Amino acid sequence: METVAPLAPATTVCVTGAAGYVGSWLVMKLLERGYIVHATVRDPGNIKKVKHLLELPGAKTNLTLWKADMTVNGSFDEAIQGCQGVFHVATPMDFQCKDPENDVIKPTIEGVLSIIRTCAKAKTVRRLVFTSTAGALNVAEQRKSVYDENNWSDLDFIYSKKMTGWMYFASKVLAEKAAWEAAKEYNIDLVSIIPTLVVGQFNTPTFPPSLITALAPITGNESHYWIIKQGQYVHLDDLCEAHIFLFEEPKAEGRYICSSHDATIYDLANMIRDKWPEYNIPTEFEGIDKDIPLVRFSSKKLVEMGFTFKYTFEDMYRGAIETCREKGMLPYSTQICSNGDQEIDLVPSKGIPMIKTK
Ligand SMILES: NC(=O)c1ccc[n+]([C@@H]2O[C@H](COP(=O)([O-])OP(=O)(O)OC[C@H]3O[C@@H](n4cnc5c(N)ncnc54)[C@H](OP(=O)(O)O)[C@@H]3O)[C@@H](O)[C@H]2O)c1
Repeated sequence: METVAPLAPATTVCVTGAAGYVGSWLVMKLLERGYIVHATVRDPGNIKKVKHLLELPGAKTNLTLWKADMTVNGSFDEAIQGCQGVFHVATPMDFQCKDPENDVIKPTIEGVLSIIRTCAKAKTVRRLVFTSTAGALNVAEQRKSVYDENNWSDLDFIYSKKMTGWMYFASKVLAEKAAWEAAKEYNIDLVSIIPTLVVGQFNTPTFPPSLITALAPITGNESHYWIIKQGQYVHLDDLCEAHIFLFEEPKAEGRYICSSHDATIYDLANMIRDKWPEYNIPTEFEGIDKDIPLVRFSSKKLVEMGFTFKYTFEDMYRGAIETCREKGMLPYSTQICSNGDQEIDLVPSKGIPMIKTK
């Protein structure tokens, strides 16, 4: 009689911040691969915030939503119980918050520490993948020309300058450092992934925070120019593939930069102007030299372990712009403003504020 080998049971993983820009794309990719996904959100009853997850292919059989909040100790216990992997993607990212310490910094640190303790208690977790950020590496008085996994941002500089997004950069440096300490103490296999600016098509119903920065040359949001002055980028799909790769690859250890393209703000402006001439893109950026050099983020460690990036710089922007347009978050053109003298409000109903142009 012919015997049939039993199918290997599907791997169960938890994704925190599952409804967000990165989280929801990662959940989609995990479901595509046959993973069983425990997706954490703060408010599973808010259908507007979770509908895009429930509608993903495979969600009916392989996805469950769990309520968990980084401000509450032990909040992830139930969602992580029985999981072989945890992707800790959630992070508070409100650059306009009123109380940076309590709204952003504390929850980010306490959240990852609570998750590490939960992983230790669960005893089933094979690896925790923590999503860090380039801002945990490169925010300092002196810019380096190339960054690798040995670099950390300068907290004194961040706290003294209080630049746009400072609380987010501080929170990620402190949280990642605390995570490395705690992982050692609790004997957790921790891998951190360090994305640069994430750009690409998306499935969230709200405007992704990173696109406020990435699309700043279109919207005229000058306060974000310093972040993309000498920018680095990764496609959302490549980033999510890299998360799964780092979970599945037994040899993975430590920190991994995940970044495929470097561009100055002038390179970016030229690319957008060339591919989308319907947008009114500045040709000069005040205080930024046209010959400003590139700053590189090296993904050598990730690539040498076998990871391949698939997307071009143009692919990232095409995905982001087309999705924003389809969702009514970005106007199809801003050229209407270039020669008129009347003030036109370009704020699409669901999108980001466009700086009003005369
Ligand atoms: N996007 C980028 O360019 C970029 C670059 C580098 C690194 N990263 C990292 O990638 C990760 C995801 O970022 P994203 O771009 O996807 O941001 P996002 O769309 O804002 O998603 C973040 C998620 O975190 C959750 N969250 C916020 N505060 C929380 C709390 N107190 N407890 C539990 N969950 C909380 C939110 O969940 P709710 O749905 O419950 O509100 C939200 O869905 C972050 O760790 C970020 O540091 C992103």
